[in-house]
Amino acid sequence: MTNVLVVKANNRPDGISTKMYDTFMETVKDSNDLNVRVYDVFKEDMPYFGQDLFNAFGKMQNEEELTDVEKRILAAKQNAMDAVSEADVLVFAFPLWNLTIPAALQTFIDYVYSAGFTFKYDAEGNLVQLMPEKKVILLNARGGLYSAPEMAPMEMSYNYMQNVFGGVFGMEIIENVIIEGHNANPQQAEAIVAAGMERVREVAQKLVAQYA
Ligand SMILES: Cc1cc2nc3c(=O)[nH]c(=O)nc-3n(C[C@H](O)[C@H](O)[C@H](O)COP(=O)(O)O)c2cc1C
Repeated sequence: MTNVLVVKANNRPDGISTKMYDTFMETVKDSNDLNVRVYDVFKEDMPYFGQDLFNAFGKMQNEEELTDVEKRILAAKQNAMDAVSEADVLVFAFPLWNLTIPAALQTFIDYVYSAGFTFKYDAEGNLVQLMPEKKVILLNARGGLYSAPEMAPMEMSYNYMQNVFGGVFGMEIIENVIIEGHNANPQQAEAIVAAGMERVREVAQKLVAQYA
């Protein structure tokens, strides 16, 4: 059995990346070989990453009483790390909003972007990726066009995810689907989105076949 963690990072019912998530889930739902767990970043209890967590670490060490938010953030971080540990394949369905990823997805990343867990430094100070055996599928939608060389540096959603999960954690990005330009070119929107959903279906079917 292959464990697949699907991270849903959009709560707009009409979001294109929400529909990519729906299409992926619909395609894999009958597989007996994939054990699919969903992590919905808009439904999980995820306090913002910051001093509450660092205070909680300090208090744990000194065996002091934790506040409610400190307990919640420790539990949330552990839950996110457990979800990543268990997964053989991670699938992210996420939009480009305001040139980047939704804040709730950022919080998930903040929880797992952890020295000794997803990466470390060796004695010479080189970055060591700690999760090279895991595979990743990135499903992303963006209304504008960012493939052109003059626009690519502005894009901090797909590039960020690729840098974090591929570049720092060392996971292998086995597939990606990027739907783009449907807002910039409204006359072509329907065709752009339909072609993208077909690609999502293909990627999902390939995953099912690969682990059958
Ligand atoms: C809050 C919000 C912010 C957005 N910001 C951008 C942006 O900075 N650049 C862009 O090209 N499109 C932007 N869009 C359009 C989305 O990229 C587009 O809707 C795409 O399909 C991904 O979002 P969705 O999955 O929620 O539909 C934005 C959409 C929303 C809802």
